[in-house]
Order: sequence, then C-alpha cells, then structure tokens
Amino acid sequence: MTAPKPGSPATTAARRDILITSALPYANGPIHIGHLVEYIQTDIWARFQKLRGHNCCYVCADDAHGTPIMLKARAEGITPEALIARVAEEHKADFADFRVGFDNYHSTHSDENRYCATLIYERNRDKGHVTARTIEQAYDPVEQMFLPDRFIKGECPKCGAPDQYGDNCEVCGASYSPAELKNPRSVVSGAVPEQRESEHLFFRLADFEPMLRDWTRGGGLQEQVANKLDEWFDAGLKEWDISRDAPYFGFEIPDHPGKFFYVWLDAPIGYMASFKHLCESERGRAAGLDFDAFWGKDSAAELYHFIGKDIIYFHALFWPAMLYGADFRTPTAIFAHGFLTVDGQKMSKSRGTFIKARTYLDHLNPEYLRYYFAAKLGPSVDDIDLSLDDFQARVNADLVGKVVNIASRTAGFVTKRFDGRLASSLPEPGLFEEFTAGGQAIADAYERREYSRAVREIMALADRANQYIDEQAPWVVAKQEGQEERLQGICTQGLNLFRLLIGWLKPILPGTAEAAEQFLKIPSLTWADLSAPLLGHEIAKFKPLMTRVEPQQVQAMLEASKEDLMAPTSAQQSGQGGSEQPAGGAGHLARDPIAGTIDFDTFAKVDLRIARIAKAARVEGADKLLQLTLDLGGETRNVFAGISKAYDPADLEGRLTVMVANLAPRKMRFGVSEGMVLAAGPGGKDLFILSPDTGAEPGMKVK
Ligand code: 2FM
Ligand code: ZN
Repeated sequence: MTAPKPGSPATTAARRDILITSALPYANGPIHIGHLVEYIQTDIWARFQKLRGHNCCYVCADDAHGTPIMLKARAEGITPEALIARVAEEHKADFADFRVGFDNYHSTHSDENRYCATLIYERNRDKGHVTARTIEQAYDPVEQMFLPDRFIKGECPKCGAPDQYGDNCEVCGASYSPAELKNPRSVVSGAVPEQRESEHLFFRLADFEPMLRDWTRGGGLQEQVANKLDEWFDAGLKEWDISRDAPYFGFEIPDHPGKFFYVWLDAPIGYMASFKHLCESERGRAAGLDFDAFWGKDSAAELYHFIGKDIIYFHALFWPAMLYGADFRTPTAIFAHGFLTVDGQKMSKSRGTFIKARTYLDHLNPEYLRYYFAAKLGPSVDDIDLSLDDFQARVNADLVGKVVNIASRTAGFVTKRFDGRLASSLPEPGLFEEFTAGGQAIADAYERREYSRAVREIMALADRANQYIDEQAPWVVAKQEGQEERLQGICTQGLNLFRLLIGWLKPILPGTAEAAEQFLKIPSLTWADLSAPLLGHEIAKFKPLMTRVEPQQVQAMLEASKEDLMAPTSAQQSGQGGSEQPAGGAGHLARDPIAGTIDFDTFAKVDLRIARIAKAARVEGADKLLQLTLDLGGETRNVFAGISKAYDPADLEGRLTVMVANLAPRKMRFGVSEGMVLAAGPGGKDLFILSPDTGAEPGMKVK
C-alpha cells in the first residue's frame, strides 16, 4: 500500500505498517522532564495508531558511544560497558514508570548496530560517497587523545570572554574553530592542546543534494524545518567527518584500524538496530515482523522520527542521505518539537525546575504530566511551557473535576441499587451519537499531532456529559419512588459517555484508562469499540481513578530537585569545585555542624584507592591549588587539590596518597578534576595527605 501523506487524517480503514522512533538519549545521564516532552509526544502517537488497529512499532535505544561517555566511565573508575549497562536500566525504569510503551528499547552498543553501521558505511564507501583526508586537530599531550571542540576551553577570540568552549562563545555568540581560541586548555587534563595531524573519513553529503532537495519538498517536513533546510542548501552542503581517533568508545571502522565511527554516525542507525533486534526476538517473530519490509528500498511501511529541533541537521540531511546511499528507504517524515521551559524560563537547577524523571515520579502521578504536555502540544517546533500553577489547575479541573467526576457521580447508584448492572438501553441514544460523531475530529487531531486540539474537543464533550448529569440530577431521582428505571438509565448514559471520553484519552492516559477498563470490567478498549454503547453489563465497584494534585507535592518535588542537582558543597568536594577549597576542607568541617548520617551502603559506594603522586605542579593564577597527576596503577587521574600552602610540589612526587576514585569529574576554571585526595588537619599549612609507604600499591582499594 502507499503511505498516506504524513499528518493527513486516517481516512482509510486499511491497516498501515508504521515504525515510530524517538531520539536516543545519551547513556551518561538521567532522563529529565525536558526529555519527556518528546517521549510522551511520541508515545501518545504510537498508542493512538495502535488503538486505531494499525501495525505500529515504537522503538528506541540508548545512545551509548562517544567521548563524554568514555570519560565519564573513566572518572567513575568503571568500564564504559558497565556505565551504559547501569544507565540503560535507569532509563528503562523511568520510561516504564512514565508509561512510555516502547516495543523495544535497545542500545547503539549492540551487535545489530555494529552490523547495520558497518553495512551502511561499506555501501556508501563502495559507491564513492566516503573520502579520506588528513586534517589538523587539537590534541591533549597529557591524555594522549584528540579533543572534541567541547573539550577545549579558552578565551573567546572575538570578545576575550574567559572560559569559553572551543566552538562558540556563550557571551558574544561568536562561532569559531578551537584553533582560534586564546590560551586554550584541554578540559580533560588542563594541558595546552597541540595541533596534530590525523587522517579522517568524510561522508560526501553534497553527492546527495538533488535527492535531498526532492525529499525535503516531499511533504515529510514541517514548514519551519523545510525553510531551515533551504538555508542549509543555500550555504552549501559540507563533507561530514564520520571518523574519530582512538581512544574512543564506539565501533572500530573495519578497514581503518584505530579509527572509530563518530557517535552521530551510528546513533540514527540505532533506530534500525533496535527494530532489527525486535524482529529477531521471539515477540517479533511471532508477530511476523520483517526487517526488510520496513527498511527495504521499496518499503510500503511508514517511518517516522520524532526529534528535538536541535538535531534536525542530522536527521533531515545526513540520515536520509546515508540511507539512500546504502539502498535503504528514507523516512516518511521527521517530526521536530520545541524545548520545554518551566514557568517561562529555561529549566534551572537553582530554582529546582531541572526535574529528573525519577524525582517527578517520587512525588507525582505520571498521568498528570502526560495530560499537561498533551494539552500544550501541537505539530509545530514551538517551545512549550510547563507553568506549575496552570499544571495543577488544569489537571484538577479537567481530569479530576470533569472526567473522573462523571463516573463518581453515577457509579455508586449502579452498584447500590442495581447490583452493578447497567441498563439494557440508553435513555438518550441521540446524545451518545452526538459524542461518537465527535470521535472523528478527535482522531484527525491525534493523527496530525494536534494534541491540544484533541484535548480541547474531549474536554468540551466532558463538559457536555457533566451538563447532562447536572440536568438529570440522579441524586434527586434516587430519592423518588418508582423512578428506578429512570435512575438506571441516567447512570448508564453517564457511564457510557465516560467510557467514550476515557477511550479517546487512552493514548494520553494509559494508566487511568486501564483502571477504568477494570472498573467497567471490559477488555482493553480500541477505537472501534467506541462506536457502540456498553449495555446490560455488570461493572465493578467504583474506586477513585485519580486524586487531585496538591500544591505541597509540587513544592516537595521542586525542593527534592534542588537537592538532587545542586553542586556538592565546596567543603566536601575540594579539588572538585570551581573555587580553590583546601583538600578535605578540614577547616570547614571543623566549624560546620555534622550533617545527617548516611547508611553503610551509601558509605560503601565511596571507592577509596591508594594513588602514587606521579606529578605535582603549582597552578598559575591559583594560589591554593596544586595540580596532581595521580597514578592508580595503570590509569592516571588529574586532580586539583587546595594544598599548596602545605606542600612543596617536589616533596610530593613519588609519594602515596588516598583518593576518592569514583567521584564524578568536575570542571574547574583550570581544567577537569577527576577525583579527590583525602586530607586531615585544620587547613592552610597544616594539611596532611600522604599515606605511609608500607608496601601499598597504587590502585589498591582502601578498606
Ligand atoms: O541529541 C541527543 O541527545 C542524541 N543522543 C540523539 C540521538 S538521536 C538518533 F540519531 F540516534
Ligand atoms: Zn565572545
């Protein structure tokens, strides 16, 4: 079958094959509510398509490669594989608890992805779309690695602002190359980067310009996105560097030992890999899912990618070009969305509005946020705002006050007076039909991703249902003699309208819909079920399906977010803070009250290791800091410690100390500190960090 124009209403009853993806989250940090805009938006669409009876799969994966993940694992003293395995579990739990119903959640660090990435690379290479050339790049001589732009900092070449990244200045907005930065430093070691040559592989994007121009105008892009693409075409399509030098966490390029695929090459291929993994699973085989039917050049299936507006270049240019060059199908459409603001501002750690998914879940029902986002989301790339007051007001008024209220105003009578049995006919079939006729507009709105319109339509009908109950006043009828049949009819009518509303809200509120299905004692609702009423049927005793959002819950979530994400205090994190606190912060600890206790398991997470001080040096511009290169028995760490009043660097070299080896790295003015040395003493010149040399070896665990 031919795929319909994306976003067009589902006018045909034909069963469509649909594959949907959300962008893959990086495997080095937690999911937060900003991410959730996309996963909730996509999940609603996928659930809607399934409810309509289409053959729809929604897949995703962790984006597990790249330098930041490699360095984070190193800073934690674990392998990248261990890091991405841990983060994958956290991500999966967060998504499951937000009821994001992936059909498969995989990883870009997988056999399927290695296979697909290699295939796509080799096919493009064999057709001449990959070219090799030697380039100069910043190199960290201490860490012996090439540095991505974001790992170099220095003074802006245009305005002189200090501490700016290697690609653009956050103060004046200038873009430049890292080689132009003044006084550049490696963020990894603090060393001055050198320029070194290395051969890289480039994907010749310009080879695909005619195809990309056609594809861009094929109706698969939002207007604002297509306009942006025109600007990029006008500026000229540039070759794309798809290789990185070792050390790098990724896939080694088969015909280039020591070179790895750039993380952004294999990330979108992760969509394919996750789907391939699904096809090859027991579930996929049972469902008869065929990889080629979805990804083959002439596939009739529909393929949609939901993404944030910041990654359009990768998805609307590189990705279709790579696919086309490798004889795969191109996406049917890319759906880009905007960013999330909270109370009109960027999410902020200090205001507590940088809210992790888990912190939200500790305080609030996920269905509230799903509903609120749906009520705000449209098909454009505009940003959406989570206004916390509006969030509470809207959830309470719409879901608790309107929808759930219909059931709570009618169900009790059915249970008490009619043994839980609904009447065998509706007193007002015309009203039911008026509702079902509204279902088409709701379906069209979902299909076009106009969720805010779908919500408006549903809530207008919820108002109508409440108006019916107000007019019929079952609580008055219940007191009148001989009105049994009438009472049963009113409640049956009310509960049938409630059932329609819940069915239409099901893509947004899957948990509430499930609870309502149990209450109504019905199998999982589909869109088609909504054309006929539920009559002569026994229902269960009503239990409240949702409680009100209380302001204290929101407040508690904000407070918890501040605690989660506030930078650790300098007294406990010396050598890791932006300031130059003495190591161990002994002076501060003596004055500060002892903080609450921690349990033994928490303490046991601190990984204390013997380290040999391989190098110690004063830090220019910092009068308390020494820069230490610590040898952990094969691995070295760069640590800044506020001990320069206590030690002459020369006296430290070759000596042993004890360090916290699994402290997350922290960016300082002078570089990244990758751990902390322990110190005793009141501070200043009286600080002691050395461990006696009694046969301990660097890297040994301190018990
Ligand atoms: O921007 C990001 O968070 C990327 N990890 C998204 C990758 S999407 C896809 F290409 F894999
Ligand atoms: Zn500047």
